Amino acid sequence: MRILSGIQPSGQLHLGNYFGSMKPNLEYVGKGDMSLYMIVDFHALTTVQNPDELRTFRNDAILDLLACGFDPDKATLFFQSHVPEHTELSWILSTVTPMGLLERAVSYKDKVQKGIAASVGLFTYPVLMAADILLYDATLVPVGRDQKQHVEMARDIAVKFNNAFGESLILPEPKIRDEVAVIPGTDGQKMSKSYGNTIPLFGSEKVIQKAIMGIVTDSKGVAEPKDPETCAVFQIHRSFLSKEDASALADTYRAGGLGYGDAKKLLFTAYMDAFGPMRAKREELMKKSDYVQEVVQDGAKKAGKVAKATMERVRKAVGLI
Ligand code: ADP
Ligand code: TRP
Repeated sequence: MRILSGIQPSGQLHLGNYFGSMKPNLEYVGKGDMSLYMIVDFHALTTVQNPDELRTFRNDAILDLLACGFDPDKATLFFQSHVPEHTELSWILSTVTPMGLLERAVSYKDKVQKGIAASVGLFTYPVLMAADILLYDATLVPVGRDQKQHVEMARDIAVKFNNAFGESLILPEPKIRDEVAVIPGTDGQKMSKSYGNTIPLFGSEKVIQKAIMGIVTDSKGVAEPKDPETCAVFQIHRSFLSKEDASALADTYRAGGLGYGDAKKLLFTAYMDAFGPMRAKREELMKKSDYVQEVVQDGAKKAGKVAKATMERVRKAVGLI
């Protein structure tokens, strides 16, 4: 089993990214014969086209991953753009990818609907993602539900390639955690960078507090019973809790007597308890830029070795050698 996943450095990471993508992936660190986790900065270029911003998001992403517990001794952590084979394989795969396959991509349509420019890069995003996966012979790709179609497309593209050029690429399986909930944002919609409704993972304490205290609720008074199922404060809070503790907190909401102000304070405390150690670790890492550089250079070297071997196979298969 070879495990691979990635995250875009396209904004400040938030609680939704943590519980929906990073935490499930952390469980796979060090499992299988190799686990790889990459910061997909080529992908981020489809939406971030301000160089200062991209630089900041890239730097933040590696600090965030290390602070959250991705152990570079157990997982290969690297930047996609440090391994040039990604774009080479992406081009070769694009020559066997049917237009119709890409036209069916839900994520592309969603992004265009949100107002993101419909560039060729945005359209061929799934081909680059297929290259990310196939380059490393990844068999298991843990992703959020929204990325399942992309992993299935990587499989379809590998099948097309193998049919055209002989069995050269390994078919990956998406690994979706059904129990991972969609975390609502401060306005009750899905938490997302593009909705401006996030609670950041590593913002200043003041920013976090302001975001949490600003979560939209109905106007029920302290004594009134409240519905945890429709309350964004509870829906965010539950991700921090065990099943039993979440169920006990839900009962407290239903019983009445817990005001929204106090419910938010409880959530803020849960946030600080959970992320306090990671926040401290991130502070430390900020002072160790040499170490962080070493981690990504080492990651690129390890990833590059595998990528080169795959490209050798692919070039032979298509007749470029
Ligand atoms: P955003 O919507 O903020 O731009 P991305 O689309 O970059 O986030 O998502 C990166 C990863 O984080 C994906 O795997 C996605 O499933 C997960 N994710 C994003 N937002 C949430 C959320 N609100 N709840 C759960 N998982 C989420
Ligand atoms: N598209 C993924 C996302 O937005 C990020 C990604 C790029 C990825 N390449 C990947 C995830 C390869 C898993 C494997 O979340």
